[in-house]
Amino acid sequence: MPDLVVGVVGATGRLGSAVRAECARQGVQVGLAASRTEWRATGRVSVLVDASAPDALPATVKYCEQVGAALIYCVSRVTDESRRQLAELGDRTTVILADNLSVGHWLQVNLVRTVANLVRSFRQQPQMAVRERHPVTKKDSPSASARALADVWAATCPPELRGATTSQRGGPPVSDHEVTFDLPGMSLSIKHSVTDLHMAVIGLLDLVRHVRQLSPGLYPVFDVYSRMYRHGT
Ligand SMILES: NC(=O)c1ccc[n+]([C@@H]2O[C@H](COP(=O)([O-])OP(=O)(O)OC[C@H]3O[C@@H](n4cnc5c(N)ncnc54)[C@H](OP(=O)(O)O)[C@@H]3O)[C@@H](O)[C@H]2O)c1
Repeated sequence: MPDLVVGVVGATGRLGSAVRAECARQGVQVGLAASRTEWRATGRVSVLVDASAPDALPATVKYCEQVGAALIYCVSRVTDESRRQLAELGDRTTVILADNLSVGHWLQVNLVRTVANLVRSFRQQPQMAVRERHPVTKKDSPSASARALADVWAATCPPELRGATTSQRGGPPVSDHEVTFDLPGMSLSIKHSVTDLHMAVIGLLDLVRHVRQLSPGLYPVFDVYSRMYRHGT
């Protein structure tokens, strides 16, 4: 297997800069730093991280095809056309669709699933509600993460046990997501708060190391987190 050399598209941005800093901290070589103005290569890239914008995708796909690099696609807004292009690239190389890098969200989704399984034999089952908070700059409401949490619960319980999903806009970066399970006389809450990109970038570096163990294909990031963190590889 060739040496692990990371390329970063969006290298001058917030996420890209944090990725480069974490690569330096973990001793991972960065062989490409790309932005709108230049693609500066200093080594043969084996894993490309795209942390830029939707319109960079054609150049990203072309680069992966040229050098045979795996791709971790971190851009949050993924259109149907982008998904089609990524799936097509996945016929030739490994592509991780990492539109939500939050390891905490992965944990919270799995905890909701666990509660759903544990309460299955209760005489009375809890009602679950979701509350999310983002700063006023957040456009969509409720957030995709809040919808995912509500969907996981809705998949296993009848409509009367699905409480409301509420959104609050205000406060500091980045987000809070709280799920609350209510039964008469008791309430259980699981809250996930994010204040910066630190854990997203730690998760991303774990993906960078793991991606070369996967066969070509398009993989959702949550499936890859499940493989990595459940099995410890
Ligand atoms: N998956 C996740 O969990 C997660 C977490 C955080 C952010 N994101 C996503 O990551 C992306 C970057 O976020 P950010 O906050 O770091 O944004 P940002 O600070 O605005 O940085 C954007 C970066 O992308 C570059 N860029 C933009 N268009 C490009 C193009 N056509 N070709 C090459 N480079 C291009 C910019 O280069 P210039 O300096 O030349 O403008 C800059 O380096 C966004 O899509 C965001 O939604 C995802």
